[in-house]
Amino acid sequence: MSKETKNTLSITDNRTGKAYEIPIEHDAIRAIDLRQIKVKPDDFGMLSYDPAYLNTASCKSNITCIDGDKGILRYRGYPIEQLAEKSTFLEVAYLLIYGELPSKDELDYWGQRIMRHTYIHVALAKLMQSFRYDAHPMGMFISSVAAMSTLHREAKYVDDPEIVQKQIWRLLGKLPTVAAFAYRIRIGRPFNYPDSTRGYTGNFIYMLDYMNEQDYEVHPTLARALDILFILHADHEQNCSTSVMRSIGSSRVDPYSALAGAASALYGPLHGGANEAVLRMLVEIGSVSNIPAYIERVKKGEMRLMGFGHRVYKNYDPRASIIKKVAYDVFEITGTNKLIDIAVELERIALHDEYFVSRKLYPNVDFYSGIIYQAMSFPVDMFPVLFAIPRAAGWLAQWVEMVNDPAQRIARPRQLYLGADKRDYTLPQER
Ligand code: CMC
Repeated sequence: MSKETKNTLSITDNRTGKAYEIPIEHDAIRAIDLRQIKVKPDDFGMLSYDPAYLNTASCKSNITCIDGDKGILRYRGYPIEQLAEKSTFLEVAYLLIYGELPSKDELDYWGQRIMRHTYIHVALAKLMQSFRYDAHPMGMFISSVAAMSTLHREAKYVDDPEIVQKQIWRLLGKLPTVAAFAYRIRIGRPFNYPDSTRGYTGNFIYMLDYMNEQDYEVHPTLARALDILFILHADHEQNCSTSVMRSIGSSRVDPYSALAGAASALYGPLHGGANEAVLRMLVEIGSVSNIPAYIERVKKGEMRLMGFGHRVYKNYDPRASIIKKVAYDVFEITGTNKLIDIAVELERIALHDEYFVSRKLYPNVDFYSGIIYQAMSFPVDMFPVLFAIPRAAGWLAQWVEMVNDPAQRIARPRQLYLGADKRDYTLPQER
Protein backbone atom coordinates (compact mmCIF):
# COMPACT_ATOMS: atom_id res chain seq x y z
CA MET A 1 0.00 0.00 0.00
CA SER A 2 1.47 3.42 -0.98
CA LYS A 3 1.98 6.26 1.48
CA GLU A 4 -1.14 8.09 0.29
CA THR A 5 -3.43 5.10 0.67
CA LYS A 6 -3.98 3.66 4.11
CA ASN A 7 -6.42 1.03 5.30
CA THR A 8 -8.17 3.51 7.56
CA LEU A 9 -11.16 5.78 7.46
CA SER A 10 -10.80 9.44 8.40
CA ILE A 11 -13.81 11.01 10.00
CA THR A 12 -14.21 14.66 10.90
CA ASP A 13 -16.93 15.47 13.40
CA ASN A 14 -18.23 18.81 12.19
CA ARG A 15 -19.88 19.43 15.57
CA THR A 16 -16.47 19.66 17.22
CA GLY A 17 -13.98 19.84 14.34
CA LYS A 18 -12.22 16.79 15.79
CA ALA A 19 -10.69 14.26 13.39
CA TYR A 20 -10.63 10.50 13.93
CA GLU A 21 -8.83 7.74 12.11
CA ILE A 22 -10.60 4.38 12.20
CA PRO A 23 -9.05 1.08 11.03
CA ILE A 24 -10.66 -0.76 8.12
CA GLU A 25 -10.61 -4.56 8.11
CA HIS A 26 -12.20 -6.63 5.32
CA ASP A 27 -13.76 -3.43 3.91
CA ALA A 28 -15.56 -2.86 7.22
CA ILE A 29 -15.12 -0.66 10.25
CA ARG A 30 -15.95 -1.79 13.76
CA ALA A 31 -19.05 0.03 14.94
CA ILE A 32 -17.53 0.18 18.45
CA ASP A 33 -14.71 2.40 17.04
CA LEU A 34 -17.35 5.08 16.51
CA ARG A 35 -17.95 5.23 20.25
CA GLN A 36 -14.89 7.47 20.78
CA ILE A 37 -16.64 10.21 18.78
CA LYS A 38 -18.11 12.51 21.42
CA VAL A 39 -19.03 16.16 21.81
CA LYS A 40 -18.59 16.20 25.60
CA PRO A 41 -16.34 13.77 27.50
CA ASP A 42 -19.28 12.25 29.40
CA ASP A 43 -21.36 11.64 26.23
CA PHE A 44 -22.17 8.00 25.51
CA GLY A 45 -20.46 8.27 22.09
CA MET A 46 -21.54 7.80 18.48
CA LEU A 47 -23.74 4.84 17.52
CA SER A 48 -24.51 3.53 14.06
CA TYR A 49 -28.25 3.33 13.26
CA ASP A 50 -29.15 0.37 11.05
CA PRO A 51 -32.74 -0.90 11.27
CA ALA A 52 -33.08 -4.41 9.78
CA TYR A 53 -29.25 -4.65 9.64
CA LEU A 54 -29.11 -3.56 6.01
CA ASN A 55 -25.43 -2.73 6.25
CA THR A 56 -24.19 -4.37 9.43
CA ALA A 57 -22.07 -7.53 9.54
CA SER A 58 -22.94 -9.21 12.85
CA CYS A 59 -20.23 -11.88 12.59
CA LYS A 60 -17.24 -13.16 10.70
CA SER A 61 -18.22 -16.42 9.08
CA ASN A 62 -16.51 -19.17 7.06
CA ILE A 63 -19.66 -21.03 6.07
CA THR A 64 -21.62 -19.63 3.13
CA CYS A 65 -20.55 -17.16 0.48
CA ILE A 66 -23.06 -15.28 -1.67
CA ASP A 67 -22.17 -12.83 -4.42
CA GLY A 68 -25.55 -11.41 -5.31
CA ASP A 69 -24.35 -9.44 -8.35
CA LYS A 70 -22.75 -12.47 -9.95
CA GLY A 71 -25.42 -14.99 -8.86
CA ILE A 72 -22.92 -17.05 -6.84
CA LEU A 73 -23.73 -19.30 -3.88
CA ARG A 74 -21.04 -21.47 -2.28
CA TYR A 75 -21.04 -23.62 0.85
CA ARG A 76 -17.55 -23.70 2.40
CA GLY A 77 -16.19 -22.71 -1.01
CA TYR A 78 -17.98 -25.40 -3.01
CA PRO A 79 -20.33 -24.05 -5.75
CA ILE A 80 -23.97 -24.92 -5.13
CA GLU A 81 -24.26 -26.28 -8.69
CA GLN A 82 -21.60 -28.96 -8.00
CA LEU A 83 -23.10 -29.91 -4.65
CA ALA A 84 -26.61 -30.18 -6.11
CA GLU A 85 -25.37 -32.37 -8.91
CA LYS A 86 -22.96 -34.65 -7.05
CA SER A 87 -23.51 -34.50 -3.30
CA THR A 88 -26.26 -35.52 -0.89
CA PHE A 89 -28.05 -33.51 1.76
CA LEU A 90 -26.40 -35.37 4.63
CA GLU A 91 -22.94 -34.82 3.14
CA VAL A 92 -23.73 -31.13 2.66
CA ALA A 93 -24.94 -30.90 6.27
CA TYR A 94 -21.58 -32.35 7.40
CA LEU A 95 -19.72 -29.91 5.15
CA LEU A 96 -21.65 -26.92 6.52
CA ILE A 97 -21.15 -27.90 10.16
CA TYR A 98 -17.54 -29.18 10.10
CA GLY A 99 -16.09 -27.16 7.22
CA GLU A 100 -14.74 -30.02 5.09
CA LEU A 101 -16.24 -32.79 3.00
CA PRO A 102 -16.21 -36.05 4.99
CA SER A 103 -14.10 -39.09 4.06
CA LYS A 104 -16.10 -42.17 3.05
CA ASP A 105 -15.83 -43.57 6.61
CA GLU A 106 -16.76 -40.25 8.20
CA LEU A 107 -19.76 -39.95 5.90
CA ASP A 108 -20.93 -43.50 6.69
CA TYR A 109 -20.61 -42.89 10.43
CA TRP A 110 -22.35 -39.50 10.17
CA GLY A 111 -25.29 -40.96 8.24
CA GLN A 112 -25.55 -43.89 10.61
CA ARG A 113 -25.57 -41.66 13.72
CA ILE A 114 -28.23 -39.36 12.27
CA MET A 115 -30.48 -42.18 11.10
CA ARG A 116 -30.08 -43.84 14.52
CA HIS A 117 -31.63 -40.72 16.06
CA THR A 118 -34.74 -40.58 13.89
CA TYR A 119 -37.07 -41.98 16.55
CA ILE A 120 -38.67 -39.40 18.81
CA HIS A 121 -39.48 -39.86 22.50
CA VAL A 122 -42.95 -41.29 23.14
CA ALA A 123 -43.66 -38.27 25.34
CA LEU A 124 -43.12 -36.03 22.30
CA ALA A 125 -45.30 -38.21 20.08
CA LYS A 126 -48.02 -38.03 22.75
CA LEU A 127 -47.65 -34.29 23.04
CA MET A 128 -47.98 -33.96 19.26
CA GLN A 129 -51.16 -36.04 19.33
CA SER A 130 -52.77 -33.35 21.45
CA PHE A 131 -52.66 -30.66 18.72
CA ARG A 132 -56.08 -29.84 17.28
CA TYR A 133 -56.97 -31.55 13.97
CA ASP A 134 -56.53 -28.33 11.96
CA ALA A 135 -53.27 -27.15 13.57
CA HIS A 136 -50.79 -25.67 11.08
CA PRO A 137 -47.88 -28.11 10.56
CA MET A 138 -45.35 -25.34 11.05
CA GLY A 139 -46.89 -24.42 14.42
CA MET A 140 -46.68 -28.08 15.44
CA PHE A 141 -43.09 -28.26 14.22
CA ILE A 142 -42.00 -25.16 16.14
CA SER A 143 -43.70 -26.23 19.38
CA SER A 144 -42.35 -29.78 19.13
CA VAL A 145 -38.76 -28.61 18.62
CA ALA A 146 -39.10 -26.36 21.68
CA ALA A 147 -40.52 -29.30 23.65
CA MET A 148 -37.49 -31.40 22.71
CA SER A 149 -35.39 -29.31 25.10
CA THR A 150 -37.43 -30.77 27.97
CA LEU A 151 -36.45 -34.30 26.89
CA HIS A 152 -32.73 -33.79 26.24
CA ARG A 153 -31.83 -31.71 29.21
CA GLU A 154 -28.06 -32.07 28.96
CA ALA A 155 -28.35 -30.00 25.75
CA LYS A 156 -27.92 -26.87 27.87
CA TYR A 157 -24.17 -27.62 28.21
CA VAL A 158 -23.37 -25.85 24.98
CA ASP A 159 -19.64 -25.70 25.73
CA ASP A 160 -19.26 -29.46 25.85
CA PRO A 161 -18.35 -30.65 22.31
CA GLU A 162 -19.56 -34.22 22.89
CA ILE A 163 -22.94 -33.08 24.13
CA VAL A 164 -23.22 -30.59 21.25
CA GLN A 165 -22.33 -33.34 18.79
CA LYS A 166 -25.11 -35.54 20.08
CA GLN A 167 -27.72 -32.79 19.82
CA ILE A 168 -26.69 -32.23 16.19
CA TRP A 169 -27.28 -35.91 15.37
CA ARG A 170 -30.54 -35.81 17.28
CA LEU A 171 -31.87 -32.68 15.64
CA LEU A 172 -30.99 -33.71 12.09
CA GLY A 173 -32.37 -37.18 12.79
CA LYS A 174 -35.58 -36.21 14.53
CA LEU A 175 -36.73 -33.17 12.55
CA PRO A 176 -38.01 -35.17 9.54
CA THR A 177 -39.91 -37.39 11.99
CA VAL A 178 -41.48 -34.41 13.74
CA ALA A 179 -42.36 -32.92 10.34
CA ALA A 180 -43.87 -36.19 9.11
CA PHE A 181 -45.87 -36.62 12.32
CA ALA A 182 -47.18 -33.07 11.99
CA TYR A 183 -48.28 -33.94 8.47
CA ARG A 184 -49.96 -37.20 9.55
CA ILE A 185 -51.89 -35.30 12.23
CA ARG A 186 -52.84 -32.73 9.61
CA ILE A 187 -54.31 -35.44 7.33
CA GLY A 188 -55.75 -37.55 10.15
CA ARG A 189 -53.59 -40.65 9.76
CA PRO A 190 -51.63 -42.63 12.36
CA PHE A 191 -47.90 -42.06 12.71
CA ASN A 192 -45.44 -44.03 10.63
CA TYR A 193 -42.26 -44.74 12.55
CA PRO A 194 -38.91 -44.20 10.80
CA ASP A 195 -37.24 -46.79 8.58
CA SER A 196 -33.57 -45.86 8.57
CA THR A 197 -32.73 -48.22 5.70
CA ARG A 198 -34.44 -45.88 3.24
CA GLY A 199 -31.99 -42.96 3.43
CA TYR A 200 -32.71 -39.46 4.71
CA THR A 201 -35.28 -38.19 2.22
CA GLY A 202 -36.50 -41.70 1.32
CA ASN A 203 -37.35 -42.31 4.98
CA PHE A 204 -39.04 -38.92 5.19
CA ILE A 205 -41.28 -39.61 2.19
CA TYR A 206 -42.02 -43.08 3.61
CA MET A 207 -43.12 -41.62 6.97
CA LEU A 208 -45.37 -39.16 5.15
CA ASP A 209 -46.95 -41.54 2.67
CA TYR A 210 -46.94 -45.16 3.67
CA MET A 211 -50.34 -46.68 4.52
CA ASN A 212 -50.46 -50.45 4.29
CA GLU A 213 -49.34 -51.07 0.73
CA GLN A 214 -47.57 -54.34 -0.02
CA ASP A 215 -44.11 -53.76 -1.53
CA TYR A 216 -44.22 -50.01 -0.81
CA GLU A 217 -41.23 -48.26 -2.36
CA VAL A 218 -40.28 -44.60 -2.48
CA HIS A 219 -39.53 -43.58 -6.06
CA PRO A 220 -35.77 -42.87 -6.17
CA THR A 221 -36.26 -39.87 -8.48
CA LEU A 222 -38.59 -38.24 -5.95
CA ALA A 223 -36.25 -38.99 -3.04
CA ARG A 224 -33.35 -37.51 -5.04
CA ALA A 225 -35.41 -34.46 -6.07
CA LEU A 226 -36.22 -33.76 -2.43
CA ASP A 227 -32.57 -34.31 -1.51
CA ILE A 228 -31.52 -31.69 -4.08
CA LEU A 229 -34.15 -29.26 -2.78
CA PHE A 230 -32.78 -29.88 0.73
CA ILE A 231 -29.22 -29.13 -0.48
CA LEU A 232 -30.38 -25.87 -2.07
CA HIS A 233 -32.18 -24.74 1.08
CA ALA A 234 -29.52 -25.83 3.59
CA ASP A 235 -27.93 -22.44 4.26
CA HIS A 236 -28.07 -18.86 3.06
CA GLU A 237 -25.72 -17.03 5.44
CA GLN A 238 -27.16 -14.31 7.73
CA ASN A 239 -30.84 -14.42 6.70
CA CYS A 240 -33.65 -13.60 9.14
CA SER A 241 -34.02 -17.07 10.72
CA THR A 242 -30.27 -17.68 10.91
CA SER A 243 -29.74 -14.35 12.64
CA VAL A 244 -32.44 -15.41 15.10
CA MET A 245 -30.65 -18.74 15.71
CA ARG A 246 -27.43 -16.90 16.45
CA SER A 247 -29.14 -14.24 18.51
CA ILE A 248 -31.07 -16.65 20.74
CA GLY A 249 -28.06 -18.98 20.92
CA SER A 250 -25.86 -16.12 22.09
CA SER A 251 -27.65 -16.32 25.45
CA ARG A 252 -26.12 -19.86 25.69
CA VAL A 253 -29.53 -21.50 25.71
CA ASP A 254 -29.81 -25.09 24.41
CA PRO A 255 -29.97 -25.58 20.61
CA TYR A 256 -33.58 -26.88 20.65
CA SER A 257 -34.86 -23.62 22.12
CA ALA A 258 -32.74 -21.58 19.70
CA LEU A 259 -33.85 -23.65 16.72
CA ALA A 260 -37.52 -23.32 17.65
CA GLY A 261 -37.00 -19.54 17.50
CA ALA A 262 -35.25 -19.75 14.13
CA ALA A 263 -38.10 -21.89 12.76
CA SER A 264 -40.60 -19.28 13.99
CA ALA A 265 -38.77 -16.61 12.01
CA LEU A 266 -38.84 -18.83 8.94
CA TYR A 267 -42.62 -19.27 9.29
CA GLY A 268 -43.24 -15.65 8.25
CA PRO A 269 -44.55 -14.90 4.73
CA LEU A 270 -41.59 -12.66 3.89
CA HIS A 271 -39.17 -15.50 4.50
CA GLY A 272 -40.13 -19.20 4.26
CA GLY A 273 -43.65 -18.50 3.09
CA ALA A 274 -42.94 -16.99 -0.35
CA ASN A 275 -43.19 -20.29 -2.27
CA GLU A 276 -46.78 -20.58 -1.10
CA ALA A 277 -47.46 -17.06 -2.40
CA VAL A 278 -46.01 -18.02 -5.80
CA LEU A 279 -48.36 -20.97 -6.01
CA ARG A 280 -51.39 -18.83 -5.19
CA MET A 281 -50.28 -16.27 -7.78
CA LEU A 282 -49.94 -18.89 -10.54
CA VAL A 283 -53.40 -20.24 -9.69
CA GLU A 284 -54.79 -16.71 -9.82
CA ILE A 285 -53.22 -16.09 -13.26
CA GLY A 286 -54.85 -19.32 -14.38
CA SER A 287 -53.60 -19.54 -17.97
CA VAL A 288 -50.75 -18.42 -20.21
CA SER A 289 -53.05 -16.04 -22.09
CA ASN A 290 -53.70 -14.06 -18.89
CA ILE A 291 -49.99 -13.35 -18.28
CA PRO A 292 -49.54 -10.08 -20.25
CA ALA A 293 -52.46 -8.45 -18.39
CA TYR A 294 -51.06 -9.67 -15.07
CA ILE A 295 -47.60 -8.29 -15.88
CA GLU A 296 -49.17 -4.92 -16.67
CA ARG A 297 -50.82 -4.86 -13.26
CA VAL A 298 -47.48 -5.67 -11.62
CA LYS A 299 -45.83 -2.84 -13.55
CA LYS A 300 -48.55 -0.44 -12.42
CA GLY A 301 -47.57 -1.35 -8.85
CA GLU A 302 -50.85 -3.13 -8.04
CA MET A 303 -48.95 -6.19 -6.80
CA ARG A 304 -45.54 -7.86 -6.89
CA LEU A 305 -44.53 -10.77 -9.04
CA MET A 306 -44.03 -13.35 -6.32
CA GLY A 307 -40.87 -15.47 -6.61
CA PHE A 308 -39.10 -12.59 -8.34
CA GLY A 309 -36.44 -10.33 -6.86
CA HIS A 310 -34.13 -10.79 -3.92
CA ARG A 311 -32.45 -8.52 -1.40
CA VAL A 312 -29.05 -10.04 -2.20
CA TYR A 313 -29.27 -11.54 -5.70
CA LYS A 314 -29.33 -8.93 -8.43
CA ASN A 315 -28.82 -11.65 -10.98
CA TYR A 316 -30.42 -15.05 -11.57
CA ASP A 317 -30.67 -16.86 -8.19
CA PRO A 318 -28.40 -19.88 -8.90
CA ARG A 319 -30.80 -22.09 -6.94
CA ALA A 320 -33.70 -21.19 -9.26
CA SER A 321 -32.04 -22.60 -12.38
CA ILE A 322 -31.24 -25.90 -10.59
CA ILE A 323 -34.79 -26.16 -9.24
CA LYS A 324 -36.28 -25.56 -12.69
CA LYS A 325 -34.50 -28.67 -13.98
CA VAL A 326 -35.55 -30.72 -10.91
CA ALA A 327 -39.17 -29.74 -11.64
CA TYR A 328 -39.10 -31.50 -14.99
CA ASP A 329 -37.49 -34.62 -13.43
CA VAL A 330 -40.31 -34.75 -10.89
CA PHE A 331 -43.02 -34.29 -13.52
CA GLU A 332 -41.70 -37.37 -15.33
CA ILE A 333 -42.90 -39.34 -12.30
CA THR A 334 -45.86 -37.36 -11.01
CA GLY A 335 -47.22 -36.09 -14.30
CA THR A 336 -46.89 -32.43 -15.19
CA ASN A 337 -48.16 -29.62 -13.02
CA LYS A 338 -50.06 -27.33 -15.40
CA LEU A 339 -48.79 -24.33 -13.41
CA ILE A 340 -45.28 -24.93 -14.83
CA ASP A 341 -46.36 -23.67 -18.28
CA ILE A 342 -47.60 -20.47 -16.70
CA ALA A 343 -44.39 -20.15 -14.66
CA VAL A 344 -42.08 -20.68 -17.64
CA GLU A 345 -43.95 -18.18 -19.80
CA LEU A 346 -44.14 -15.67 -16.96
CA GLU A 347 -40.39 -15.97 -16.49
CA ARG A 348 -39.75 -15.61 -20.24
CA ILE A 349 -41.84 -12.43 -20.51
CA ALA A 350 -40.49 -10.91 -17.31
CA LEU A 351 -36.86 -11.52 -18.26
CA HIS A 352 -37.38 -9.54 -21.47
CA ASP A 353 -39.44 -6.73 -19.99
CA GLU A 354 -37.73 -3.39 -19.33
CA TYR A 355 -39.44 -3.05 -15.91
CA PHE A 356 -37.89 -6.26 -14.58
CA VAL A 357 -34.59 -5.94 -16.47
CA SER A 358 -33.88 -2.42 -15.22
CA ARG A 359 -34.65 -3.41 -11.63
CA LYS A 360 -32.58 -6.59 -11.88
CA LEU A 361 -35.55 -8.75 -10.91
CA TYR A 362 -34.87 -12.42 -11.59
CA PRO A 363 -36.61 -15.61 -10.43
CA ASN A 364 -35.57 -16.60 -6.90
CA VAL A 365 -35.50 -20.01 -5.19
CA ASP A 366 -39.21 -19.89 -4.42
CA PHE A 367 -40.37 -19.42 -8.01
CA TYR A 368 -40.26 -23.12 -8.88
CA SER A 369 -40.04 -24.95 -5.54
CA GLY A 370 -43.77 -24.66 -4.72
CA ILE A 371 -44.70 -26.16 -8.08
CA ILE A 372 -42.52 -29.18 -7.33
CA TYR A 373 -43.92 -29.60 -3.83
CA GLN A 374 -47.44 -29.41 -5.20
CA ALA A 375 -46.67 -32.00 -7.90
CA MET A 376 -45.37 -34.26 -5.09
CA SER A 377 -48.79 -33.79 -3.39
CA PHE A 378 -47.61 -31.73 -0.44
CA PRO A 379 -50.33 -29.45 0.92
CA VAL A 380 -49.36 -25.79 0.81
CA ASP A 381 -49.08 -25.45 4.58
CA MET A 382 -46.29 -28.06 4.58
CA PHE A 383 -44.07 -25.84 2.40
CA PRO A 384 -42.42 -23.90 5.25
CA VAL A 385 -41.80 -27.19 7.09
CA LEU A 386 -40.04 -28.51 3.97
CA PHE A 387 -37.84 -25.42 4.13
CA ALA A 388 -37.15 -25.79 7.87
CA ILE A 389 -35.84 -29.39 7.77
CA PRO A 390 -32.82 -28.67 5.55
CA ARG A 391 -32.26 -25.14 6.88
CA ALA A 392 -31.69 -26.76 10.29
CA ALA A 393 -28.28 -27.88 8.96
CA GLY A 394 -27.39 -24.25 8.25
CA TRP A 395 -28.82 -23.04 11.55
CA LEU A 396 -26.72 -25.62 13.42
CA ALA A 397 -23.56 -24.79 11.46
CA GLN A 398 -24.01 -21.08 12.20
CA TRP A 399 -24.85 -21.79 15.84
CA VAL A 400 -21.70 -23.93 16.32
CA GLU A 401 -19.61 -21.20 14.68
CA MET A 402 -21.17 -18.59 16.96
CA VAL A 403 -20.78 -20.62 20.17
CA ASN A 404 -17.07 -21.15 19.41
CA ASP A 405 -16.32 -17.60 18.27
CA PRO A 406 -14.45 -15.73 21.03
CA ALA A 407 -15.55 -12.40 19.52
CA GLN A 408 -19.22 -13.18 20.15
CA ARG A 409 -21.08 -12.17 23.30
CA ILE A 410 -24.75 -12.05 24.13
CA ALA A 411 -26.52 -10.24 21.27
CA ARG A 412 -27.70 -6.94 22.60
CA PRO A 413 -28.36 -4.14 20.10
CA ARG A 414 -28.53 -0.51 21.14
CA GLN A 415 -31.42 1.86 20.45
CA LEU A 416 -31.86 5.53 19.80
CA TYR A 417 -34.28 6.47 22.56
CA LEU A 418 -36.71 9.10 21.23
CA GLY A 419 -39.42 8.75 23.88
CA ALA A 420 -40.61 11.02 26.67
CA ASP A 421 -38.18 12.72 29.02
CA LYS A 422 -38.49 12.10 32.75
CA ARG A 423 -42.03 12.79 34.03
CA ASP A 424 -43.79 12.12 37.30
CA TYR A 425 -46.39 9.43 37.87
CA THR A 426 -49.93 10.57 38.62
CA LEU A 427 -52.71 8.48 40.12
CA PRO A 428 -55.47 7.29 37.70
CA GLN A 429 -58.09 9.59 39.23
CA GLU A 430 -55.77 12.58 38.70
CA ARG A 431 -55.22 12.00 34.95
N1 CMC B 1 -42.35 -7.70 -8.49
C1 CMC B 1 -42.42 -6.45 -8.99
N2 CMC B 1 -41.60 -5.45 -8.64
C2 CMC B 1 -40.67 -5.72 -7.72
C3 CMC B 1 -40.51 -7.00 -7.16
C4 CMC B 1 -41.40 -8.02 -7.57
N3 CMC B 1 -41.32 -9.25 -7.08
N4 CMC B 1 -39.50 -6.99 -6.26
C5 CMC B 1 -39.03 -5.75 -6.27
N5 CMC B 1 -39.73 -4.97 -7.15
C6 CMC B 1 -39.47 -3.59 -7.50
C7 CMC B 1 -39.91 -2.64 -6.40
O1 CMC B 1 -41.24 -2.22 -6.60
C8 CMC B 1 -38.91 -1.53 -6.55
O2 CMC B 1 -39.30 -0.77 -7.66
P1 CMC B 1 -39.14 0.85 -7.62
O3 CMC B 1 -37.66 1.08 -7.55
O4 CMC B 1 -39.77 1.32 -8.88
O5 CMC B 1 -39.85 1.30 -6.38
C9 CMC B 1 -37.61 -2.23 -6.93
O6 CMC B 1 -38.05 -3.44 -7.59
C10 CMC B 1 -36.72 -2.59 -5.74
O7 CMC B 1 -37.51 -3.32 -4.79
P2 CMC B 1 -37.19 -3.39 -3.22
O8 CMC B 1 -38.47 -3.64 -2.51
O9 CMC B 1 -36.37 -2.21 -2.82
O10 CMC B 1 -36.24 -4.67 -3.14
P3 CMC B 1 -35.86 -5.44 -1.80
O11 CMC B 1 -34.48 -5.89 -1.98
O12 CMC B 1 -36.16 -4.64 -0.58
O13 CMC B 1 -36.88 -6.66 -1.80
C11 CMC B 1 -37.82 -8.82 -2.02
C12 CMC B 1 -36.52 -7.97 -2.02
C13 CMC B 1 -37.44 -10.30 -2.17
C14 CMC B 1 -38.55 -8.62 -0.68
C15 CMC B 1 -38.72 -8.35 -3.19
O14 CMC B 1 -38.04 -8.51 -4.42
C16 CMC B 1 -40.07 -9.08 -3.22
O15 CMC B 1 -41.00 -8.65 -2.54
N6 CMC B 1 -40.17 -10.19 -4.00
C17 CMC B 1 -41.38 -10.97 -4.04
C18 CMC B 1 -41.45 -11.90 -2.81
C19 CMC B 1 -40.49 -13.07 -2.93
O16 CMC B 1 -40.38 -13.73 -3.94
N7 CMC B 1 -39.78 -13.35 -1.82
C20 CMC B 1 -38.85 -14.48 -1.75
C21 CMC B 1 -37.46 -14.05 -1.45
S1 CMC B 1 -36.29 -15.40 -1.60
C22 CMC B 1 -36.57 -16.46 -0.22
C23 CMC B 1 -36.06 -15.94 1.11
O17 CMC B 1 -35.07 -15.23 1.17
O18 CMC B 1 -36.63 -16.36 2.14
